[in-house]
Amino acid sequence: MDRENQSVVSEFVLLGLCHSWNTQVLLFMIFFMLYLIVVSGNIVIVILIITDPHLHSPMYFLLANLSFVDMWLSSVTTPKMITDFLRENSTISFVGCMCQILFVHFVGGCEMVLLVVMAYDRYVAICKPLHYSTIMSLQRCLGLVVSSWAIGFVHAMSQMVVIVQLPFCGPREVDSFFCDIPLVIKLACMDSYNLEILMNSDSGVLAMTCFILLLISYTYILRTVHRSSKTGASKALSTCTAHITVVVLFFGLCIFIYVWPVSITWVDKFLAVFYSVITPLLNPAIYTLRNQEMKNTMKRFRSYYMDSKVNT
Ligand SMILES: *[C@@H]1O[C@H](CO)[C@@H](O)[C@H](O)[C@H]1NC(C)=O
Repeated sequence: MDRENQSVVSEFVLLGLCHSWNTQVLLFMIFFMLYLIVVSGNIVIVILIITDPHLHSPMYFLLANLSFVDMWLSSVTTPKMITDFLRENSTISFVGCMCQILFVHFVGGCEMVLLVVMAYDRYVAICKPLHYSTIMSLQRCLGLVVSSWAIGFVHAMSQMVVIVQLPFCGPREVDSFFCDIPLVIKLACMDSYNLEILMNSDSGVLAMTCFILLLISYTYILRTVHRSSKTGASKALSTCTAHITVVVLFFGLCIFIYVWPVSITWVDKFLAVFYSVITPLLNPAIYTLRNQEMKNTMKRFRSYYMDSKVNT
């Protein structure tokens, strides 16, 4: 029967980040704090943007969406990683492992497209300022956000349909703190070399396409900024350098993982941690703290609460 050559592995063993107990306790504390900051920071950004009518424009809606996505990106793998630091042996069920793969790629893909949408929004604002309100209507903006989720979903599903069918028959040690595609494919009982290349190029093509679109829009933006007057230019430039920093960090590393997989364990682990915790932390920090309007909103928010405390 078909059941015969289906997976007999019901759970995988996660080898985690390191083996020394003291280091694990230290890492537990560090990542616990970082995760709290990621979740609370991103929630604060979403709430500020939704509640403040000054920020009801496509650029800020997109920023709120990015924060929302970042929070989920971190939540797919980090809570399990944190609790695993305090366990001797960590395992993950087959279904859990597949869910991690699905959601990491779903949310990660969505985030990439969202970064492109944000760059497009800035391109329209800076290069076609007179048509901005017609091109980036709220409807269009919502449409772009929905498409980014749709693209993430299709990307994740395209990999999922292949992976769940792989024959897992024996080896079950994943040398990381979560199930990622390259590591899991290696465990399948078959010659997986071609499949690995296929899967990596699935992610690689998405990442490269987004990266090229980003390069194109930022090139146009920088060219326009360069030509225009000094005053408006410096403000636009400061917004854009923030965006470009995030983009280079996010894609530079992503292309590193999927296009030229180096297969050095600690590099891969470092990159995995980077995506789970550091980018979701940096995105809101970079996009928000370099943004005067966001800072003003925080000030308004603070003084509002200070005043209401004084008055009561
Ligand atoms: C995402 O963007 C849409 C469209 O602009 C907006 O209506 C929505 O409130 C945003 N979602 C979040 C969580 O900020």
